[in-house]
Amino acid sequence: MRIVNIVGARPNLMKIAPIIAEIRRFPDIEPVLVHTGQHYDENMSDVFFRELNIPDPDYNLGVGSGTHTWQTAQVMLALEPLLIKLQPDCVLVVGDVNSTLAAALVAAKLCIPFGHVEAGLRSFDRSMPEEINRQLTDAVSDYLFTTSRDANENLRREGIPEHKIFFVGNVMIDTLHRFRSRAEALQLPSRYGLMPGHYAVLTLHRPSNVDSAGGLGEIVDALEVIQTRLPILFPAHPRTFERLKQFGLLRHLGAMSGIGLLEPLCYLEFLGLMAQSRLVLTDSGGIQEETTVLGVPCLTLRENTERPVTVSQGTNEIVGTSSKWIVEAVWRILDGGGKRGRIPELWDGRAAERIVAILRDILSKRLCTTDRSSG
Ligand code: UD1
Repeated sequence: MRIVNIVGARPNLMKIAPIIAEIRRFPDIEPVLVHTGQHYDENMSDVFFRELNIPDPDYNLGVGSGTHTWQTAQVMLALEPLLIKLQPDCVLVVGDVNSTLAAALVAAKLCIPFGHVEAGLRSFDRSMPEEINRQLTDAVSDYLFTTSRDANENLRREGIPEHKIFFVGNVMIDTLHRFRSRAEALQLPSRYGLMPGHYAVLTLHRPSNVDSAGGLGEIVDALEVIQTRLPILFPAHPRTFERLKQFGLLRHLGAMSGIGLLEPLCYLEFLGLMAQSRLVLTDSGGIQEETTVLGVPCLTLRENTERPVTVSQGTNEIVGTSSKWIVEAVWRILDGGGKRGRIPELWDGRAAERIVAILRDILSKRLCTTDRSSG
């Protein structure tokens, strides 16, 4: 049974790690790992392989950065001959990045059974590149593994037949459970001269937030006010760092004594910082889920979320991107508010186990049928 796992960008890595670890427990499965090279910097990719014990990729397509169309097309062009050579029994992808969609299209065109982990999430906002990736990937997937019941509903509404949908839980949370105590033992806040519970963590990388001077300036205005009461650690994505420079905001931010602008952090350091923070400000998807499990209030600087369970059950609040709303939301938390939340169903550290059990069951039955028909 040969399963080709395809990753491309940073958030794919914490999701694939538990799946590969689980697959490796079964000698009847041969895992092959392909990295598209969408992310390529040491601190955006390699460090996660080492920390999360992901084996080195068997193939790296070395695609790199470009426009969305260019990047998606390059992954497709490089992947097609590789999948033809490998003849896998199944291709498995995680998440919603351009590499995910590219892999889905190639596998579908080659009629290779295809599984999507984290299927069915919808922000209903097509201006978000990931929303298009999610909808199209799910449309051509054979096995759709979901993290929440609302995702099952979304898939049903889009006409995906019931037998293709599997509610299995959240693989990103498998990784969090596995590494949380190691991350907290690093005592990260003291490295930055901070006390646990007395600082915020910020991440920003959505094009809609960082690609215009007005939008990014609005968020920086909010930070200027917030950092007078609560220090903020800000590990900046390379894209965001470039935009801060380009829009002349870097020096402004550098002059604020309560802002710690950092390089992108490795998984353990970032998890350790988040776990002990007072609150998190973010436009990421995965961080909304991680803060829910950590019980840390999360303010999402977007107008919507594809992960509504983090709002209805978890610690997440969608605050938008206006400076006034962001500051008011932070003050509410500092003045005694902040959601407590509870952990969503099946976010129990065993999602990868369920996924691999389902795949082994389906694929072994399929292989038996193929053997019989060819024999
Ligand atoms: C991608 C994903 C996004 C995910 C994010 C996590 C898509 C559409 N977007 O966004 O869903 O949340 O990854 O980080 O797939 N760059 C580097 N070094 C790298 C990688 C990128 O410097 O290793 C810079 C380049 O200037 C590049 C820019 O970051 O142009 C954006 O990278 P890209 O992969 O296109 O998208 P992300 O914004 O990282």
